[in-house]
Amino acid sequence: MLARRRVLVLCSMILSGLIGPWASAAQDVIDMEGRTAMVTGSTSGLGEVVARRLGAMGATVIVHGLNEQRGAGIAAEITAAGPGRAVYYPGDLGSLEQVRALAARVRSAHPALHLLINNAGIGGASNDARRESADGHELVFAVNYLSHFLLTQELLPLLERSAPARIVNVASIGQRPINFDDIMMESNYQTTSAYSQSKLAQIMFTFSLAEKLDPARVTVNALHPATFMDTPMVTGSGRQPMSSVQDGANAVMQLAVGSGLSGRSGLYFNQLNEARANAQAYDAAARQRLWDLSTGLTKP
Ligand SMILES: NC(=O)c1ccc[n+]([C@@H]2O[C@H](COP(=O)([O-])OP(=O)(O)OC[C@H]3O[C@@H](n4cnc5c(N)ncnc54)[C@H](OP(=O)(O)O)[C@@H]3O)[C@@H](O)[C@H]2O)c1
Repeated sequence: MLARRRVLVLCSMILSGLIGPWASAAQDVIDMEGRTAMVTGSTSGLGEVVARRLGAMGATVIVHGLNEQRGAGIAAEITAAGPGRAVYYPGDLGSLEQVRALAARVRSAHPALHLLINNAGIGGASNDARRESADGHELVFAVNYLSHFLLTQELLPLLERSAPARIVNVASIGQRPINFDDIMMESNYQTTSAYSQSKLAQIMFTFSLAEKLDPARVTVNALHPATFMDTPMVTGSGRQPMSSVQDGANAVMQLAVGSGLSGRSGLYFNQLNEARANAQAYDAAARQRLWDLSTGLTKP
């Protein structure tokens, strides 16, 4: 009876575009009913679509982002649509103090966390001026990577207690080796280079963290969701969208709820397919250097 209900729910999710073309049978997705998921940067773009899909699968969704009005509205709409429910928590990822407060709020309000999607991000035009976070770090590195490094560490005990759990890092195909001599890009700043450096840092973090975790309990994978989706990040920088946000959401959902990814960790996907990241991600010494640096930068 339960299996039949799951098949019916799955068919309706595929038909309504909630999951994506890779799911073809009930066993292709994990059951999100009664499970809790957090999606950073879900007040717009890719994160919003993913949060709505998780709510439609029955999950309790933690919506996060800067725009409080949109965040509260999206959470209310997810709850009204059911069968899942959602709450909205603000928190500026450009401040490590706010990241710690956000994690503390999640820990105190939710007895379990089964899925963390580190999605929030900023880009910009190549001639934008260099900016710094509240902690004095280059802002793109801080928001896209360092905040998620800290958030993940702060939520790891909760994820481990909720096993099996998953972490999905939304990176990009735009990757550039970390320049350890000037990681904060104080000279020759370019937003596109800062963006690509932060995205490779996310992937290196993914690989390093996977080595420290038991994949039967917590997995961590990274992906490039889709190229130039029709999101505010792309349209706001004057670029022409090349793919839809639904394409990107399909790829994120595969890593987040696809049964085929159970127990598989430390992988990088280009959309729906496993792929190779920039060579520096496979340099164990560079990864360790980034880990040590990040641990130092996020110390209270
Ligand atoms: N768009 C693409 O084609 C593309 C391609 C490859 C990878 N990606 C990656 O996909 C992810 C989502 O991108 P998107 O295109 O959906 O971007 P988007 O529409 O601009 O959404 C970005 C989200 O991040 C939040 N955010 C930004 N700065 C923040 C901060 N300081 N503190 C807290 N939240 C913050 C935003 O919140 P508010 O809206 O409330 O300010 C928003 O919810 C990003 O990591 C991006 O790098 C995108």
